[in-house]
Amino acid sequence: MNYELSGSKNKKQKGDTTRALKKLAPLLNGEKRKLALAISMAMIGSAASLLDPIIIGRAVDLYIKNKDFHGVLISTAILLGVYLVGLVASYIQTLALGGVGRRVLFSLRNALFAKLQELPAAFFNQNKSGDLISRINNDTDKLNQFIGQALMQFMRSLFVVAGAGIFLLSLNPRLGAASLIPAAVVLLATRLLAPWVEAANLKSLQAVGQMSSEIQESLANFKVVAAFNRLDYFKDRFNGVNVKNFSASVKAGIASNIYAPIYGVASTMAQLIILGYGTYLITAGNFTIGLLIGYLLYVDNFYRPLRQLATVWPSMQLAFAAIDRISEVLALRSDMEIVQDKFAEAKTDLQLEFRDVSFTYLEGKTVLSKVNLKLQKGKTYALVGPTGGGKTTTASLMARLYDASQGSILFEGQDIRSYSPEVRSQKIGFILQEPFLFTGTIRDNIVYGNRDYLNCTDEQLAGALNSSGLSGLIARFGQGLKTNIASGGDTISLGQKQLIAFIRAVLRKPDLLILDEATANIDTVTEQLLEEIINKLPKDTTKVIIAHRLNTIDNADEIYFVNAGKIVLAGSMEQAVKMLTGQKRTS
Ligand SMILES: Nc1ncnc2c1ncn2[C@@H]1O[C@H](COP(=O)(O)OP(=O)(O)OP(=O)(O)O)[C@@H](O)[C@H]1O
Ligand SMILES: [Mg+2]
Repeated sequence: MNYELSGSKNKKQKGDTTRALKKLAPLLNGEKRKLALAISMAMIGSAASLLDPIIIGRAVDLYIKNKDFHGVLISTAILLGVYLVGLVASYIQTLALGGVGRRVLFSLRNALFAKLQELPAAFFNQNKSGDLISRINNDTDKLNQFIGQALMQFMRSLFVVAGAGIFLLSLNPRLGAASLIPAAVVLLATRLLAPWVEAANLKSLQAVGQMSSEIQESLANFKVVAAFNRLDYFKDRFNGVNVKNFSASVKAGIASNIYAPIYGVASTMAQLIILGYGTYLITAGNFTIGLLIGYLLYVDNFYRPLRQLATVWPSMQLAFAAIDRISEVLALRSDMEIVQDKFAEAKTDLQLEFRDVSFTYLEGKTVLSKVNLKLQKGKTYALVGPTGGGKTTTASLMARLYDASQGSILFEGQDIRSYSPEVRSQKIGFILQEPFLFTGTIRDNIVYGNRDYLNCTDEQLAGALNSSGLSGLIARFGQGLKTNIASGGDTISLGQKQLIAFIRAVLRKPDLLILDEATANIDTVTEQLLEEIINKLPKDTTKVIIAHRLNTIDNADEIYFVNAGKIVLAGSMEQAVKMLTGQKRTS
């Protein structure tokens, strides 16, 4: 299955407002009351600001013209009251929506992270972690900013524009219609410019994602960078994405700000129309100075929020692009679902069986082709073969890190796909060729995902380690279980990492233990110790050992040779060596 996200390869993705709003709606489901409060406050706030021109117009016509200072004073007091109501409404609206934005941000980040946990290994092969981090950090925040700030301004501006438009048209329809002509022109311009602004914003988000990927890659590989003195290489690459990010964000900035001057000109045009036409109406005796002032204020009331709408619009477009990028991840479904078992061969002495298994990575050659393999419970199997022959891939299929492209894999007589992840990881211990440790203590690392020991006391854990013969290995670390593992294991040796990965897998007492080059970096004395520990595991534990150092697999019951899509029985160690050397000669 293809898990590649469109942002990862800078594909053009079309953001669509209605589609984005539809995706946004479910996120706001739990926030209906707060949203209703915000909307009513926006209405009150806009109603308040719409009253100003009427009050001022009436004050001019009724009181100022007649020098009625008492009336002027009352009008001023009313204006002040209306202003205060508007202020309070705006404050409550900010509070209500600010909380909504942060809650959406919180739950979206959780949802995205949970989704990433559930997606299969193939997803991570196809997407860059830097871009994913950027989606979790940056894109969700764009949405938060949109809900917390832009949405509030948008609602308020929308009400004020609508209200001012109604006043303009109802007080004097011809004058009102004339004052709205520039608005029609700019709205048309906005519509024409929107796709360009939207594309510029999306490109800017993608550029942030690419930059984040580049930083992540060079930080993760800083030793290689230093050893090969390739600082210039990464510097060039970083410079490349930085320049791209810079120009994308400059373009997005220009695009986003294009509306402000256009709307500014439209507003001035409308004021000029009112002044000209209004003065003409006054001289004709059909209009008053107070009404003209009121009209000028309404025009301002109409165009100012319209300009705000135009400036908010790009940030909404940015948020829509972010919603698209976020929901693209959320919409992914793992194709490694739990399926109904169709074999149910409960009474089998087979630990694992491959039936006509073929496997191909998405963009690669076929690694396994119609392989049949039977592993008996309690036996030790060795997988040997040339570099790139397919051993790790075979082991990954055994642990269901991937599903077979064709054929079936049975674990203890049942379809391996019918086990829940918890049960599967409890039954199968896999020591990866590239051990990975989490930042934390050794204890955190060895109980990770192990429900038996997750909440036990240090004493209980020490007891369990002791009975499995693992305490000696823990004692090799200065502070035992409490030893700190910093920066994901960068501060300990590779062999030490393998030791911890070994303890983590063996402590589970799995039914199937897979060791992929698990002792490749461990000295021979310690290696023997590990072998003794493995031999202490329950008798029916099945072991699969992958090793290039053939002495490691001395005790294997059967040796399989993995190469060129096939897994064949090597028979004896001599035969395995022959196959390996023969392979070397032919390749
Ligand atoms: N994630 C991946 N995506 C695409 N192709 C892959 C991936 N991992 C491995 N391959 C390819 O699959 C083939 C088998 O790789 P695999 O890692 O199984 O070999 P291996 O026998 O474990 O080698 P080694 O002895 O070096 O560990 C190789 O040709 C490799 O290039
Ligand atoms: Mg390998």
